[in-house]
Amino acid sequence: MNSMFICPKCKNRLNSFKCTVCGYEVPRINFIYQFCSDAPVKFDGENQYIGYDGIGEDFEPAVTYWDTNNTERYGVYEACGDLIAEKFGKGITVLDLGAGLGTASIPLAKNGLYTIAADISNVMLSTAVKRANGRFDKLICARMNAYELMLADNSVDIVVENAMIHLVDNPEDVIREIKRVLKHDGYLIRYGSYAQPLNKEETEKNTYCNAVLSDISDFYYQKLTQQGYKGVWFDNHANDYIEKNFEQPYNEVAESFSEIFTEKLKFRLYRMRKGAHSDLQNTPKEFIAKAWEAADCYAKEKYGEDYINIEGFSRYGAAIDLYKVKE
Ligand SMILES: C[S@@+](CC[C@H](N)C(=O)[O-])C[C@H]1O[C@@H](n2cnc3c(N)ncnc32)[C@H](O)[C@@H]1O
Repeated sequence: MNSMFICPKCKNRLNSFKCTVCGYEVPRINFIYQFCSDAPVKFDGENQYIGYDGIGEDFEPAVTYWDTNNTERYGVYEACGDLIAEKFGKGITVLDLGAGLGTASIPLAKNGLYTIAADISNVMLSTAVKRANGRFDKLICARMNAYELMLADNSVDIVVENAMIHLVDNPEDVIREIKRVLKHDGYLIRYGSYAQPLNKEETEKNTYCNAVLSDISDFYYQKLTQQGYKGVWFDNHANDYIEKNFEQPYNEVAESFSEIFTEKLKFRLYRMRKGAHSDLQNTPKEFIAKAWEAADCYAKEKYGEDYINIEGFSRYGAAIDLYKVKE
């Protein structure tokens, strides 16, 4: 192992997963190193966060019911991973913070980069482990809390943060941690996609799909609210803190990547049915089931039995946004 990890007990630098200073051995459960024992979600007191134990594979329906014959398809994430390897070489260490199902981590590891897939959710990480299938010596799955990373100061070249920072109520502390672990010439990278033009017919279909989605979604949330649902959300202004602490991003585009996504409605409604949304973490499963049943009935009546197959159209490319710590 590389020696960027620190001991969760005595905070000394580790040379192996057993600390030579205090003797503590970092537990490993299902190939996930347990660098913390914090709860998977925290909704009170200081430093709250929404971990995804309650969401798991439902976060990415493709992992569950699409592409089951082609689990090696990571789309934008694949293109972004390739771009990072091309730009920075294979000798670097990347922390994928809030790695979830490993969708960004695995393409990085496939490129031979030393990759730490860190997440507060063992449930999410166990899918990453399953997808990696023991193939990558340089992929470490680690249960860590973004508020207190068990990594040494100035120890990683790149922190990838992708759809994670909105899940904490105190982004300032998480950003402080990101800055602490980044090497002086390191980068925070956020993955992006940019829209490419659609033709007229695609545009019209897309507009219709979006309207259907928001109609069904409004109905579903109305049903939840009638049952007493109260959403969990942090209005945390994370982007303002990123701007305050990092130089304006610059952008690199993965030239060869272009994808068309038509299954937006299917994808989003699957998540809705499964309650796979951050704001539903406190909502009893029976509320979700009832609201979905009503929404499904409503949608069938209004848009037809086969409404789930209404296609949306978005064509997009992949890009990485690079941020440097402000001096
Ligand atoms: C929306 S998912 C994104 C996963 C992945 N980055 C992607 O783009 O596919 C956010 C992830 O952040 C994790 N997370 C939330 N709070 C966290 C915290 N305090 N520390 C580490 N991970 C956290 C969740 O468990 C979840 O897996």
